[in-house]
Amino acid sequence: MEFNQNILGLQPSRSMTFMVKAKQLQAADPEVINLSGGEPDFDTPMPIREEAKRWLDAGYTHYTIGPGLPELRERIARKLREENGCGYKADDIIVTPGGKFAIYLAVRAAVNPGDEVMFLEPGWVSYPSIIEASGAVPVPVRLRFEDGFALTAEKLEQAVTPKTKMLIVNYPNNPTGRVLNRQEAAELEAFLLRHPDVLLLSDEMYERIVFSGYENVSPAAFASVADRVITVNGFSKSVAMTGWRIGYLAASGPLRAVIYKLFQHTVSCVSGFIMKAATVALDCTAEIEEMRKSYERRRDRFIGDLNAIEGVTCAYPEGAFYAWVKFDLPGMDAAQACEFILNEAKVVGVPGDAYGTDDCCVRFSFATEESELIKAAERIRTVMERVGKEG
Ligand SMILES: Cc1ncc(COP(=O)(O)O)c(C=O)c1O
Repeated sequence: MEFNQNILGLQPSRSMTFMVKAKQLQAADPEVINLSGGEPDFDTPMPIREEAKRWLDAGYTHYTIGPGLPELRERIARKLREENGCGYKADDIIVTPGGKFAIYLAVRAAVNPGDEVMFLEPGWVSYPSIIEASGAVPVPVRLRFEDGFALTAEKLEQAVTPKTKMLIVNYPNNPTGRVLNRQEAAELEAFLLRHPDVLLLSDEMYERIVFSGYENVSPAAFASVADRVITVNGFSKSVAMTGWRIGYLAASGPLRAVIYKLFQHTVSCVSGFIMKAATVALDCTAEIEEMRKSYERRRDRFIGDLNAIEGVTCAYPEGAFYAWVKFDLPGMDAAQACEFILNEAKVVGVPGDAYGTDDCCVRFSFATEESELIKAAERIRTVMERVGKEG
């Protein structure tokens, strides 16, 4: 039987594979520390849970009509206007079951077979797979550890061709922790102006997790290119709602119309009581700030501890909750280094090659209790010191 070639050729999600493996290892050995996950360790804030219960009891269990409850889309549009400087209206918003599906809808609806879609590398594991599943060709824009993953016009120009249909960027970045700075944003805008047929998908899933001294820049705030920008965001990371499966995209005009067609024929809608709960999530500013501060404290401690180890290098993430750690382990690639740290230190991360890099890097999540992070760094130190002595 001939199944779909585009889907058959996909790699399984490496981050999900590692999350499953880590759970199995932990069940067998409670000493294992799991830093492979991509989710907050906090519970969803109480006001959101209360709101979900209230509307569940009120019977919000039927299909909802259209691209999302009007009050939620109004609230999201207001958030994008006030916090991100974007000119989206409520009618530009489509509420989706998670940000991942918003990205799938946008790519699938925009590309034709053979089109090229650029994405940043190292980058989130699902971009190339979503692009391939849509029949398009993933084209990486390779950013380098050595220059702090700087996004430059030169890098973008090297990857663009007449077949380029879309560029996907993700800030704050998973896995590098970089936040788009003003200079890079200006280069991005200039690139889009030079290439008027290229769409931009800006994945801002970690936008609320930005550390002191940095600020999120939303490309849709640039009026000169706004009509070509699809902004994706959601509730999973910022308000600890991973399991609720709710996110959204914002796009205008014919772009939004084509995406909405696919939405209607795939998911129909998101649950009404979940959308009601998400409407109050955007007002949980104190809870969101509390979580953000906690990630920042953990970042300071964990990255500080790691950098004090000989043979380990990690830049301080500017946002999100991942440490992108480079190991000096001669003769080992990222997969071997990750396996080595797992076997010897009982700390589970995700190997850098899952994010498309040749560097000997491992991604560790610091959305975990500080005591566990301290223990993890200590064990990595012991292992690295032993390697150093054995020479
Ligand atoms: C960069 C990035 N974008 C999008 C998502 C999808 O988030 P969700 O589908 O849970 O809303 C994730 C989740 O890991 C992510 O890391």
